[in-house]
Amino acid sequence: MKDNNSIRVAVVGAAGRTGRMFAFELAKAADVLGIVRKEEIETIGKQGLWVRREGEEPRQLRIKLISEDRFSCSFLPQVVFLTTKNPVGPAVGYYYQKIKNMEKLPCLVLSQNGLSAGKEAKEALERVLGERAKEVQVVRVSLLNPVEREKAGGRQCVAYFLPVRLAFGVFSGKKDVGLLSSLFKRASIRAKEIEPARVPDMEVSKLFLNLIGMASSSWGVSLKKGFEEKRIAEEEFLCLKEYIRVVKAAGRGFINLPGIPLKLLAFLLDKLPLSFLLLFRKKIGSIVSRARGEKEKGNIDEIDYYQGEVVRLGKRAGIPTPIQERILKRIRQRLNRFRVGCRSG
Ligand SMILES: NC(=O)c1ccc[n+]([C@@H]2O[C@H](COP(=O)([O-])OP(=O)(O)OC[C@H]3O[C@@H](n4cnc5c(N)ncnc54)[C@H](OP(=O)(O)O)[C@@H]3O)[C@@H](O)[C@H]2O)c1
Repeated sequence: MKDNNSIRVAVVGAAGRTGRMFAFELAKAADVLGIVRKEEIETIGKQGLWVRREGEEPRQLRIKLISEDRFSCSFLPQVVFLTTKNPVGPAVGYYYQKIKNMEKLPCLVLSQNGLSAGKEAKEALERVLGERAKEVQVVRVSLLNPVEREKAGGRQCVAYFLPVRLAFGVFSGKKDVGLLSSLFKRASIRAKEIEPARVPDMEVSKLFLNLIGMASSSWGVSLKKGFEEKRIAEEEFLCLKEYIRVVKAAGRGFINLPGIPLKLLAFLLDKLPLSFLLLFRKKIGSIVSRARGEKEKGNIDEIDYYQGEVVRLGKRAGIPTPIQERILKRIRQRLNRFRVGCRSG
């Protein structure tokens, strides 16, 4: 599918989970440059970067890789896929500073979960580019595939299933997404375009999915186990009900995401009484777990962009969020214990 007119894409964070997946899938349709941490480049040079798509053997990512400090205008990217974790501000500032004199500034694609990446990126662009920040099209992506690290065939891989499904839409800048639409199409990525006005709704809809399993995770159990235990399942449902109240009060709404009838799910969660939902908790737990390919919640270190977002949105909308705050506190305690354990062990 590649030709001399290939789209040039830089993937920042190409050694990570989502970065490696995007780099591998997009390389079928574009000229992809992977950007990795300086400390990792030597090991990657020796071991390579590997992916395993469900039902397939591990495959090596064969693209040009450079370390973060080597990024410059010379590659002339048309699109920068930033696949680092939240917060995005520091990385956006770092990379756009390096290419601020490019005649045509590349479109910035942000695939982070949460509600803040677009705004943080815009602020960072304004800091380093001034007036020219307006020239950068900022696009938000809600990725629906869970991507995990695993060991397969003696190699460290990132694993995911196909097709890659996502929703995307313009957060700021020019409205035309022809370049990205054609990139996704050529890479066989199932991408649903969301009109700019509904991009905040796309983000809250994706966050709804991210919140499922956080209560279980805060108790240190898998989502499936959590839904089996009545007291944890109760917290899972109450967390979502509270979130729906906040979203409504904030004047936002849910939209359907590719393959996920989220509007209906949110409606049912909102209207059905807790006692009724609890009757189906085991079934619901196993359906969600299966839909995620039995993969457990990663990225709980981004809790400030999961439950933390709901607390902030609730404050702005004047809705109390005691359930989110409880989960947030418990996860922070778990993370602290883990960090202390790492330091002393
Ligand atoms: N994993 C999923 O299933 C999934 C699905 C949908 C959305 N997301 C979202 O996608 C985002 C990324 O998640 P992830 O799971 O891909 O995280 P990840 O596996 O930790 O990957 C991020 C990678 O970016 C690297 N990185 C950080 N700053 C960098 C910089 N300035 N230059 C170059 N590389 C840099 C990290 O290196 P260090 O580790 O050294 O910092 C890491 O290798 C998160 O916001 C997450 O919520 C994840």
